[in-house]
Amino acid sequence: PVEKPLAGKTALVTSGPTHEPIDPVRYIANRSSGKQGHAIAAALADLGADVTLVSGPVTLPDPAGVRVVRVESARDMLAACQAALPASGLLDVAVCAAAVADWGVDVAPQKLKKQDGAAPPAIALRPNPDILATLSAAGPQRPRLVVGFAAETESVIDHAVAKRARKGCDWICANDVSSATGTFGGDRNTVHLISADGVESWPDLPKTDVATRLARRIAETLISP
Ligand code: C5P
Repeated sequence: PVEKPLAGKTALVTSGPTHEPIDPVRYIANRSSGKQGHAIAAALADLGADVTLVSGPVTLPDPAGVRVVRVESARDMLAACQAALPASGLLDVAVCAAAVADWGVDVAPQKLKKQDGAAPPAIALRPNPDILATLSAAGPQRPRLVVGFAAETESVIDHAVAKRARKGCDWICANDVSSATGTFGGDRNTVHLISADGVESWPDLPKTDVATRLARRIAETLISP
């Protein structure tokens, strides 16, 4: 039926921040709310897709009709995404909307203690896996369509075009997150959709409308011959 163009299609969406544990009680995080990723998962499900949402820690409710896998760290998020790839056949679309921490910490097994007169502990960072790049380079398991986001504060389109090439994904949704725009944690987003065909700039829209529009574009692409 026309209103469920993604019936029979499988989708994976990442959303939210990651928390990178420092010790059993502390972590490093970022300000992602998960609103855009969760809205995309809901919009894909509305169009009939079988959706797995891999979400970092957020305060949002689980979208209806979506399988939700909750994770904390970037490493856990990558493992959950890999586990969500079908055993046979290909995932139709992966949308990486999570704000994955670039670096993790070698977790201390016990709570770091203050010690009188001692210098503060140093936190050594190590690079996290890049989930978008990993899925884009998954060879025979690569999803048919891989979509990433680019949060930029300047030269938004140029940086996003370069990011699309670097990550090896098909589309990048570039958004301006300079603090004046209020995108992080806010309800609206201005997106430029970058593909091999060029740049399509969308108006400033509620994140739910960005999600609906993206889901429709995904449906058009997946069902076109
Ligand atoms: O490199 P940058 O973080 O700007 O790239 C943003 C895009 O890459 C987003 O789609 C984000 O979900 C994805 N990403 C990822 N894993 C990382 C870092 C970013 O999937 N470790």
